Amino acid sequence: MKGYFYITTPIYYVNAKPHLGHVYTTVIADVLARYHRLLGEKVFFLTGTDEHGDKISETARNLGTTPKDLADENSARFRDLWPELSVNNDRFIRTTEPDHVKTVQAILQDVYDKGDIYFGEYGGHYCVGCERFFTETEMVDGKCPIHDKELVYRQEQNYFFRMEKYRTWLIDHITKNPDFIRPERYKNEVLGMLREPLDDLCISRPKSRLSWGIELPFDRDYVCYVWFDALINYLTGIGYPNGDDFNGFWSSAQHLVGKDILKPHAVYWPTMLKSVGLEPYRHLNVHGFWNVDEAKMSKSLGNVIDPLDLKEKYGIDAFRYFLVREMVFGLDSNFSEEALIERYNADLANDLGNLVSRSTRMVSKYFGGVLAEPAGPLTDEENELRGLSLKVAREYEARMENLELHSAMASVWTLISSLNRYIDKTAPWALAKSDPDRLSVVMYHIMEGIRFVAEMIYPVMPDTSGRILGVLGMSGQYTAKNLTEFGKLKGGVAIGIPEALFPRAERLKKPEQPAGAQGKGKEKEQEETNLIDISDFAKCVLKVGKILEASAVEKSEKLVVLKIDVGKTIQIAAGIAKHYSPQELVGKYIAVVTNLKPAKLMGIQSEGMLLATDTPEGKLSLLTFDREPSVGARIR
Ligand code: MSP
Repeated sequence: MKGYFYITTPIYYVNAKPHLGHVYTTVIADVLARYHRLLGEKVFFLTGTDEHGDKISETARNLGTTPKDLADENSARFRDLWPELSVNNDRFIRTTEPDHVKTVQAILQDVYDKGDIYFGEYGGHYCVGCERFFTETEMVDGKCPIHDKELVYRQEQNYFFRMEKYRTWLIDHITKNPDFIRPERYKNEVLGMLREPLDDLCISRPKSRLSWGIELPFDRDYVCYVWFDALINYLTGIGYPNGDDFNGFWSSAQHLVGKDILKPHAVYWPTMLKSVGLEPYRHLNVHGFWNVDEAKMSKSLGNVIDPLDLKEKYGIDAFRYFLVREMVFGLDSNFSEEALIERYNADLANDLGNLVSRSTRMVSKYFGGVLAEPAGPLTDEENELRGLSLKVAREYEARMENLELHSAMASVWTLISSLNRYIDKTAPWALAKSDPDRLSVVMYHIMEGIRFVAEMIYPVMPDTSGRILGVLGMSGQYTAKNLTEFGKLKGGVAIGIPEALFPRAERLKKPEQPAGAQGKGKEKEQEETNLIDISDFAKCVLKVGKILEASAVEKSEKLVVLKIDVGKTIQIAAGIAKHYSPQELVGKYIAVVTNLKPAKLMGIQSEGMLLATDTPEGKLSLLTFDREPSVGARIR
């Protein structure tokens, strides 16, 4: 129904604790839910836990506990984690809840009465990890392609759902609705699965082997197969078959899943719905997998990422931003803490954090904290900025709608970069001295641009967005309408200075580098793939210098002041005092960068830079020459 948005995550198995993979899906669902609330739609966001079946029963047996106790314990871990990650779901469903059991039994009876469930015998290769049979073509070397484990051959008398009966209908539905399964690669994968006749779906387990499940209403000796039970949670969650929620939300249903559970969602579920007589869901959105440090995440490799640890180190908004920005929706991605730190520093601390902090400080300094009404004509620069803000907002909306969340964020960052450039170009610090009217125009446009940014980052970084809008005196007014007009911010508003949004990189604990050459090799590889043009290198003037004088700096353990002959005498303050005594330095021929902008270090003028490397013992070693060079000669 129009104006409604129903989003679900998979319900997670309770045989393990939540990890990065579960967090990714759930955060993306939250981002979409927040975005659609912003659009003014009625939103229902469902997540929860999948608690029946072999997998849970086996894990409980191995741990010496009962399936119920295991489910209670691990379900609570999921439920309690979500608020910690700013995930705001409307319901947390458990498949052991009475309303779900009732719905599953009602649907089983309905499908049975329609003649779509029959009793028969089947033998096949089963993966307990996936809780499903694999066909010969799906198996890889006799193993499960997802868990890389031997499959178990099972032959039993069971109940079967006539899935094959609906195959041609499903092909037709997918073909007529090309965005039913997205991105497209997964739609094609599913059409591939449907090319051959389907095995009917085994939907029961004999109680003699497994009792942890929902009893079949038409045969007490059997329980329901866990996938048939689990998929129905999407109906129970919104009150099927009765209730306004179900009527409003079902036709807008969008499921979000990882690629590992494509078949149950793309084949079992729509055919089940068809048999029940319900419309299929609107979209199945399929994302790729996170690998960790280029390897599959797994308990045995010990590389399972703990989300709360990352939240504690970097803050929840930065973690959410990284998840959204780093993974191209639909493709696999690699998770590394180094990459997270890099994004944190570049995008958040530098680009966004700096923009907000320098701008709010200027309002405080030049206007005493009250943003002046713009009191002058607009120039091309302002018109450009206005045009760009509106263009970025439209681009952002289209991309969010299309699930290109990573590029929606990239769009927002083009506006952030443009705002930083606008500040550098218009130089408010100079206008403050010469042209107060123009200053008022410029500062207004910066702050209004920041407002656009803050509104757009809300779904991904709700806390940061709220803090920025709060500083602009606009908290709690989220609506997409705010992005249709440049000029909502009122002159005369008091603007505060927020506490540092993203404390600088130095305060982050960098993870330990793995011992040995592996880590360094990787770093080097990255540097070497970051190729530059020879003209870039030519910008750097390197000359042979001879150290004429060296003296220690009082109150500094690190600095030495050097007088160096590079064709003329220059002074450099270098941080090498712990590695060289002044006496050792005098007379050395070294490599010097001579065209750096002068800087002051502890009040000492420094007009260049030395080159050095780290030794294996952790000392510095200056770059020198193996034959006597001529002083002041260019190094090429
Ligand atoms: N219980 C079933 C789903 C039933 S839905 C009616 C299940 N549970 S699960 O606990 O195994 O969760 C699988 C989901 O977790 C994936 O589809 C994906 O959403 C998420 N992820 C688990 N590992 C992942 C990665 N390494 N990367 C990204 N997401 C992955 O399957």
